[in-house]
Amino acid sequence: MPAITLENITDAVINHGDKGKTNPRLHEIYSSLIKHLHAFQREVNLTTEELDIGRQFLFKLATPNQDFPMGEIHLMTDCLGISEVSILLEDNKNHDHGTTEMNVEGPLFIAGLPERANGVLIGEVGANDKPLFVNHSFKDKHGQPLANAIVDVWQPNGEGFYFVQRDYLPEWNFYARFHTDANGNLSYATVVPGDYPVPTSGPTGSMLEQLGRHGYRAAHIHYIVRAQGHDDFTTMMYFNHSPYVDSDTIFSVRDFRVDIVKHDNADEMKARGVDKPFYTLDYTFVIP
Ligand SMILES: [Fe+2]
Repeated sequence: MPAITLENITDAVINHGDKGKTNPRLHEIYSSLIKHLHAFQREVNLTTEELDIGRQFLFKLATPNQDFPMGEIHLMTDCLGISEVSILLEDNKNHDHGTTEMNVEGPLFIAGLPERANGVLIGEVGANDKPLFVNHSFKDKHGQPLANAIVDVWQPNGEGFYFVQRDYLPEWNFYARFHTDANGNLSYATVVPGDYPVPTSGPTGSMLEQLGRHGYRAAHIHYIVRAQGHDDFTTMMYFNHSPYVDSDTIFSVRDFRVDIVKHDNADEMKARGVDKPFYTLDYTFVIP
């Protein structure tokens, strides 16, 4: 190896070792990452002091905290748009088929969601919450209904809190696993989810504040659909009424946005068993 210089160090790092022969994909990713990281250092003339601040920041990201038992690496990749870029790259291959957009899972999916019957209310309706009745159909790209598909649904409550974020919320509040019926349909009762800020007590929040960015997610409901003959399909359904729909902090709002319809007729309220105005939403998923 020749004497290392600023000009040759990137090639030296990329070509050190022969792992590219045994794992070409890893070598491709590694080589590109090193190329771009070194280029970034050269572009901003990164000092050793600034590099050390970066190291400490990465250490904090990986350290568990009150809001994130696994640390904040996932949250940071979301807030930097990194998660969404990979989704956009992967989703590109489905665009021609008019399928529903896929999207990021987010950090608050929890395995073991409770099985719930088609049609039930999936969480506690608070005094200020807006009841929402949801009707979904699930079809493939040929229009065939997806019967007996497993559909996981999770969302925050009307105040914007997932149940794991507040001790006073019941376990599995607004988390549910459903099965579509023989016609590929599913309905459930819930509340209009609240907008919520990502937890900002850790290093990600500190970054957002120093960049003058707000940390709000536009109101949404998460879904994972598992249908026979299809890859697992993960997405988020956004609401047009959210004030953050055009400035979501993880840059994941694209075209999958829905409108809810308000109902304040007394007879309709009585028929639905609610004592205040309620909302409805119909949406058909087309699963790739
Ligand atoms: Fe979420």
